[in-house]
Amino acid sequence: MRHKCYSMITGLGFAVPKKTLTNFDLEKIVDTSDEWIRTRTGMKERHIADEATATSDLGTEAAKKALADASFKAKELDAIIFATVTPDTLFPATACYVQKNLGARDAVAFDINAACSGFLYGLTIADSLIKAGTHKNILVIGAESLSKITNWSDRSTCVLFGDGAGAAVVQPSNDNRGIFYSSIKSDGRLTDLLILPGGGSRIPTSHESIDQGHHFIKMQGQEVFKHAVKAMGDMAAESLEKTGISADELALFIPHQANSRIIQATARRIKLSDDKVFYNIEKYGNTSAASIPIALTEARDQGRLKKGDYCLLVSFGGGFTMASVFLKM
Ligand code: ACO
Repeated sequence: MRHKCYSMITGLGFAVPKKTLTNFDLEKIVDTSDEWIRTRTGMKERHIADEATATSDLGTEAAKKALADASFKAKELDAIIFATVTPDTLFPATACYVQKNLGARDAVAFDINAACSGFLYGLTIADSLIKAGTHKNILVIGAESLSKITNWSDRSTCVLFGDGAGAAVVQPSNDNRGIFYSSIKSDGRLTDLLILPGGGSRIPTSHESIDQGHHFIKMQGQEVFKHAVKAMGDMAAESLEKTGISADELALFIPHQANSRIIQATARRIKLSDDKVFYNIEKYGNTSAASIPIALTEARDQGRLKKGDYCLLVSFGGGFTMASVFLKM
């Protein structure tokens, strides 16, 4: 089957804070163990931003690397799409801070709130803008400082998340390579499973909301796990079916890095051998919107993606949101 590509990724980059927090460090903070975290999640360490670092700082650093990789100047960007659930401020959009940092004065800049699926939502929107012919040179960033909304006394969540950012420059395709399929979906029936309850218009910040811990991530882990396995499997299987590409033809599957058991279950569902699945969860934990662009950059840098290879990206996240993007490298 011949696939038409309108847009392609021409540059990639990522940034993580210097400080790492290992499972052994976490043993000193909450009642947990390296063994529990490794066997239940696949994580060994994660990077944590310092007090002075906000999400836009990480996003800007990743964006500069992606622009350098694409040999493209920020002032020629038409759009900046920033995916995050840990914005610098509720408003203005974190994308606008990055626009200022980069000097991208001609770009429209806006945020997407789709949790871990945010980067793939961003790629899909960038592809649509390019397809529509309204924008040409687009920066898509996925970045988070999840450590800032983590309850460090809740062992069921604090071991899971990390901070970081990844970015991609998306431009019109040449050579018919790039994005040739994408699908984005949501299921608002599952909003309560993974939520930051406070700080919005439902529970505005107050002494009481803080006392009750509404400014921290709340997650029903087992329920999220169950739905994630189904959502990731469904999105991956549907992508293969709709594109007519078999699992054997895939060079690499890059799933959202939330839990190695969720990733393994997804790979089994599409009958994909483990050597075609990309993992870096042991180094970064779950970095939400940053997870896929960090993984994509590392996979490319490690030589696991060559020109012409098929690469499938799949994610799920709070909302629930789900997304898949198929790339011809
Ligand atoms: N260390 C030690 N024990 C722990 C820890 C911990 N860090 N956390 C929980 N436990 C205990 C529990 O209290 C429970 O003890 P109990 O049996 O005495 O009650 C036991 O371990 C088992 O807990 P479960 O919740 O059943 O453990 P499970 O195997 O489900 O693993 C986990 C928990 C890792 C959170 C899993 O449910 C999961 O990965 N869920 C999906 C999470 C996820 O992907 N979230 C991100 C979504 S994406 C986004 O948008 C950010």
